[in-house]
Amino acid sequence: MPATRRQFLGLTAAAGLSLLTGCSGRGPSAAGPSTAGALRLTAAPMRVDLAGHAVPTWGYGTVPGPEIRLRAGETLRVQLANELPEDTTVHWHGLTPPNGMDGVPGITQDPVAPGEGFSYEFETPVAGSFMYHAHVGMQLDRGLYGPLVVEPRTEELAYDSEYTLMLDDWRDGLDDHAGHGAESSAGHGAEDRAGDDPDPVDAVSFGGRSYPLLLVNGRPPEDAPVLTARPGDRLRLRVMNIAADTGFRFAVAGHRLTVTHADGMPVEPVTVDALRLGMGERYDVLVDAAQPGGVWQVGVQPEGRGGWGRALLRYTGSEASTAPAVAERPAELDGRLVSYEQLVAREPLPLPAGAPDRSYDLTLSGTQIGGQSYPDADPLVVSDGDWVRFTMRNTSAKWHPMHLHGHHFQVLTASGRGPVKDTVTVPSRGGEVTFDFLATNPGRWLFHCHNHHHMEDGMLRLVEYEPPA
Ligand code: C2O
Ligand code: CU
Repeated sequence: MPATRRQFLGLTAAAGLSLLTGCSGRGPSAAGPSTAGALRLTAAPMRVDLAGHAVPTWGYGTVPGPEIRLRAGETLRVQLANELPEDTTVHWHGLTPPNGMDGVPGITQDPVAPGEGFSYEFETPVAGSFMYHAHVGMQLDRGLYGPLVVEPRTEELAYDSEYTLMLDDWRDGLDDHAGHGAESSAGHGAEDRAGDDPDPVDAVSFGGRSYPLLLVNGRPPEDAPVLTARPGDRLRLRVMNIAADTGFRFAVAGHRLTVTHADGMPVEPVTVDALRLGMGERYDVLVDAAQPGGVWQVGVQPEGRGGWGRALLRYTGSEASTAPAVAERPAELDGRLVSYEQLVAREPLPLPAGAPDRSYDLTLSGTQIGGQSYPDADPLVVSDGDWVRFTMRNTSAKWHPMHLHGHHFQVLTASGRGPVKDTVTVPSRGGEVTFDFLATNPGRWLFHCHNHHHMEDGMLRLVEYEPPA
């Protein structure tokens, strides 16, 4: 029996139920004091099954962690319990909470010690496809991440069912590097130096470490997750790159992708063959199941390195069809690729007329931002209410997906209405991206490359609000 959209949402909500102590915040919320009705998220050592091979990792019960789903305007309540042997925090990637809820240890909150907990609670007024992940050292490189979907009050898009696909690069439990905290780059040292690596000039490369597996929703290609559709259905896919070191290309064999949201924010629909996602980026796409039937490859190809990930799109009534070979590569991966220039914001930021109040020109070189490496770096100072412009010029050989906490920014494109995002990839070797944001969320916020190795190397700056005069 094919799932209707409503049934599907019910199912996804049920999937996270084992971790719920109360209601998940759907519907008219019985919003008591903070921990009543809170989702309990326990960070703990666990094992993840990789096509029959169980490996140790750290996660929130499952990999990815339970999907958190609520409605625009509701209050997110998460009670974090830390059962890890080290400090942790949770960051809400793409959301714009008050500073104290942003989950950055030592900057927005005290790290949560082993055996301790922390209550996250804030309103989520803006709908979109987001992610949550640990924000201590290289913890994100393990399984400490999950999807977070804020549904709009009224859904404008029409579709029959939806799936969230989290793309990840994986090595946890597969190598003998015990600790990810002290970055274990033995054997990869040379290729990690973003400034002097050996990538061919035309290569698109987001990182250089070795990752033996690429996972979609925690599953390797031999045990691919299956999306199902009835002929004629329209699917909504929320595609999210949570990898530490890998940019991906994404396509569905025999189908085109209509992009409706970039980093959760609505854009005028544009139909392409493939997506490119830097780490931290997300796209929502509609896929018309216009084939008569069969099983189709959903291909996930890493940029600039070997490896392969996949999911399967199976039409109902196609039980007899065999799945494509693991490595079968959709031709669509070489087709028309989404670009920021093609994307037009449906809800542009309310930027005033005139010129920005502050502009920062930031060269990305090696793993430095503006010639500085955190923590030996000056804060980028803004004042409450400022219109701020960042221009980034990347002189290094790696593509850097740059992420700003606590704000949405608007990418400057020729249309004058570029996409509103929170993570933007700056191409290597002279690539340039400019974005604008409104400084309306006071505090100390991170601005960093979402390559976690680059971030750990200091590719991070603080955006700091001046104390009010
Ligand atoms: Cu997705 Cu600072 O992080
Ligand atoms: Cu980077």
